[in-house]
Amino acid sequence: EESKEAILYVNGVRKVLPDGLAHLTLLEYLRDFGLTGTKLGCGEGGCGACTVMISHYDRKLKKCVHYAVNACLAPLYSVEGMHVITVEGVGNHKRGLHPIQKSLERYHGSQCGFCTPGFIMSLYALLRSSQTPPTEEQIEESLAGNLCRCTGYRPIVDAFRVFAKTDDALYADISSLSLQGGEFVCPSTGKPCSCGSKTVNDIDTNGQSICSATYKPVSYSEVDGSTYTDKELIFPPELLLR
Ligand code: FES
Ligand code: FES
Repeated sequence: EESKEAILYVNGVRKVLPDGLAHLTLLEYLRDFGLTGTKLGCGEGGCGACTVMISHYDRKLKKCVHYAVNACLAPLYSVEGMHVITVEGVGNHKRGLHPIQKSLERYHGSQCGFCTPGFIMSLYALLRSSQTPPTEEQIEESLAGNLCRCTGYRPIVDAFRVFAKTDDALYADISSLSLQGGEFVCPSTGKPCSCGSKTVNDIDTNGQSICSATYKPVSYSEVDGSTYTDKELIFPPELLLR
């Protein structure tokens, strides 16, 4: 029955994993159903073109943890019960580009574009994992597994540096979203949140009300003056109950 189904979520969409796919990597699975933003470069963990973000609920830490992983190396079944976000889930032309994508565009950080989704996902995973803005060094470190044969990296790093901690209150938004509910870290978003004392035990089993507050991710409006709140994919409540 339902609880025995092997499932995963991809960009917020529930997928049932049938038996018999043990030969597939996560990358093959994603590309097979049309999510071709995630690229096959080296196929052996060396280039980062296949980078996606996986999230799962860490019961010890009582929050979701996010990792950038090489989908070319991950056996499909290794992400059972997890949420996979690909570059399509970060932003696109229909839904709107994510500030990371806009910044890359603005700084000409993409030439042939083959490496671009991987770079985006590495930074995205870092930002989703960080409760305070990362430093420039942390941003550079997060890109250590991503190769680009075109840009010389400088435009990419310039594009990504706008997300680093600065002294001039670039991240004023963060303080406004945090701490209204004390230091509580929302189990769904992994960030400080005003959903108060709700814990994973409070989730209603329909999976609807994991968090009484709407997740308001930081809007990096300094990139082009636009905001990006309310579009970020949250951790699927169903996966918190597993
Ligand atoms: Fe190169 Fe996965 S394709 S690391
Ligand atoms: Fe061509 Fe990076 S833009 S590999």
